[in-house]
Amino acid sequence: MSTPDLFTPVRLGAVETSNRIIMAPLTRMRAGPGRVPTALMATYYAQRAAAGLIVSEATSVSQQGTGCPNAPGIYTDEQTAGWQKVTAAVHQAGGRIFLQLWHMGRISHPSFQPEGGLPVAPSAIAPRTGQALTEKGMQPYVTPRALSKEELPGIVTQYADAAQRAKSAGFDGVEIHNANGYLLDQFLRDGTNKRTDEYGGPVRNRARLTLEVTAAVVQVWGADRVGIRFSPGGVFNDMSDSNPLATFSHVLHELNRFKLAYAHLIVSTDDDLKHGAVPVPLPALRKEFHGPLIVANGFNRATATQVLAEDLADAVAFGHLFIANPDLPERFRLDAPLNLLDEARLYGGAGQGYTDYPAMGPQLARR
Ligand SMILES: Cc1cc2nc3c(=O)[nH]c(=O)nc-3n(C[C@H](O)[C@H](O)[C@H](O)COP(=O)(O)O)c2cc1C
Repeated sequence: MSTPDLFTPVRLGAVETSNRIIMAPLTRMRAGPGRVPTALMATYYAQRAAAGLIVSEATSVSQQGTGCPNAPGIYTDEQTAGWQKVTAAVHQAGGRIFLQLWHMGRISHPSFQPEGGLPVAPSAIAPRTGQALTEKGMQPYVTPRALSKEELPGIVTQYADAAQRAKSAGFDGVEIHNANGYLLDQFLRDGTNKRTDEYGGPVRNRARLTLEVTAAVVQVWGADRVGIRFSPGGVFNDMSDSNPLATFSHVLHELNRFKLAYAHLIVSTDDDLKHGAVPVPLPALRKEFHGPLIVANGFNRATATQVLAEDLADAVAFGHLFIANPDLPERFRLDAPLNLLDEARLYGGAGQGYTDYPAMGPQLARR
């Protein structure tokens, strides 16, 4: 068999993609009141339908899981109806889209919580760096409340209910957000999980909630329409682990029992490593997980082609490049010039810096 490149189709569970160029999940903070997806969001996603698969922006599974202004949710009828318009527009344009399921845990703030309560976490440990982004600007993080063991089935139910709503909303599948220091990552890594019950301590305990959530979401969707995302070396949101290779090897290995559509890894770039990220070798993680693997972080056409050729991944997700280039797969195919990113308009606002990045004109497209 010849070496796959970015334009070789690949099977991600039940989804046969036309290329290996995945749109990474990207929070853009443009949902409407009530965290309802808007018509503008439908336009934005439909513009990017040429991706082999779109992974939606992180979407809150419950009010307790929220903590970012104008990020969408999937826990009310209005939100579900809003997402229906998004998935219809993507499908109309020939694309496929998974919903990323998100609970922010300790990264939230009382102003988002039911009755102004404390955000929840595995242990009562506040992030030591950064601040909470609230409706009133940046505010200090509060020390979260440790979830009791009796509350954990309710957390699993939040994911299952959101997965069910994602189905009603017409998605092609869901991605469990277990990356970047949010609730499931807080349970998995020992810097944030100091529990003494069967959800804390050794990695087989710290991975328990991830596996329970995965089982519940698989129950709704079938395993071949469920993916999961990790950031093994990442330190964003003040994350740490005493042995990330062992932690992530274990959870990836345990996930094999489900036969998921894919696992999605945020790898650490050289720049991340200079800024405190921990090296976790991709070949070792690739060996642990026996299903399709998507990698992300800092890839361009050349490095993505290389990681596929080395068989270290089956597909590559692009974030910044997809924001600025709605027709990224076609540009890659032609090795055409890329639009520049408008960094100031990443988060919030309307169509500027969101739906107004041009696709290639006919001259470029004919090259
Ligand atoms: C504006 C922005 C929003 C992001 N939002 C999310 C998100 O909602 N969920 C997530 O898992 N990662 C999120 N990320 C991380 C991206 O999915 C991706 O891993 C990162 O941008 C690195 O890939 P890139 O170098 O191709 O952009 C976000 C990144 C950016 C720049």
